[in-house]
Amino acid sequence: MYFCTIAVLVRIIIVHSFKLSPPKKISGPWYYLADGLDSSHPFDTMPSWFKDAGNFVSLAFMNPADLPKSQDPVPEAFKKATTDFQAMGKVVFFSIGGAAYSGNWGSGALSVDSGKKAAALAQKYGVGIEIDYEGGGDNAGILEFIKGFRSECPMGKCLLSMDLYGSPGGAPWQKDLVPKALPPVGVPGQIYGDGNWLDWANVMVIDGQSLQIATKYWQQWFDAKLLNANRTTFGTMGGFASASLGICSGSSSAKTQIDFAVNYLASYGTYGLTSWAVCPPVPYHTTSCADWSPSCNSNAPGFNYMCQKLNAC
Ligand SMILES: *[C@@H]1O[C@H](CO)[C@@H](O)[C@H](O)[C@H]1NC(C)=O
Repeated sequence: MYFCTIAVLVRIIIVHSFKLSPPKKISGPWYYLADGLDSSHPFDTMPSWFKDAGNFVSLAFMNPADLPKSQDPVPEAFKKATTDFQAMGKVVFFSIGGAAYSGNWGSGALSVDSGKKAAALAQKYGVGIEIDYEGGGDNAGILEFIKGFRSECPMGKCLLSMDLYGSPGGAPWQKDLVPKALPPVGVPGQIYGDGNWLDWANVMVIDGQSLQIATKYWQQWFDAKLLNANRTTFGTMGGFASASLGICSGSSSAKTQIDFAVNYLASYGTYGLTSWAVCPPVPYHTTSCADWSPSCNSNAPGFNYMCQKLNAC
């Protein structure tokens, strides 16, 4: 009898010992360092400027198809990066999906079981989970995933987010999903309703857009009045994140653009501003894809500037 009581207490203590506290605001990069378990984007040298690049980093990408198949579908490259970023005090997310894996969600990745597994990984590594389901449409599957995730790690203990399109017209299926998956009130980390919800959504603008276009695409989500801005971040790829304009180089034009974006978003009280940052060369190539520039300023003043402007670091 006493033994049972102690066993129950120990279990309660273990279950409650993990909690990932969300910052008040977030800012930081996506860091593309793996292609699921196939490791086709190995990248083991972290640019030194990363330490000053905000209080948040999302590691891309886990392959959704690995989730139901593998006991621990976390790419090796994520594990060391996670330890390093956490030692810098950052909140780390694992991004599942991305454009390259847009066709890989169909084999059980959007299920209660996969949601549970994602929650177990979130607790094992002390990270948040980001659903980057591109191409989409299986809203019922996403809701099942969220339910499974929350059954293992409730709101207030684990962080769960999802990417939304910022592109012409947005995506109708996402506009249908948002009211079912994102709480209409409250802030990230705060419990809502039955607890089967995302903490926040990120409106991500597709690659190569200028900031003027990006804000136009962000605006449609405000106009649709579907998002609780307190639980929404806004992200870019290319555009003002690119090496020539951007965050990475920290040029004066980047600062002008960051000021514009921060001022624009401030009036809505949004949760943060993020940007795609580093896409390493594929093995045996020296040229890089997307937005990675090896000549990135070693102090990353763009990211650092953005983080300061948002009071996120
Ligand atoms: C967002 O946060 C502000 C400031 O805390 C608060 O006044 C507002 O009611 C919140 N909005 C929602 C939708 O929760």
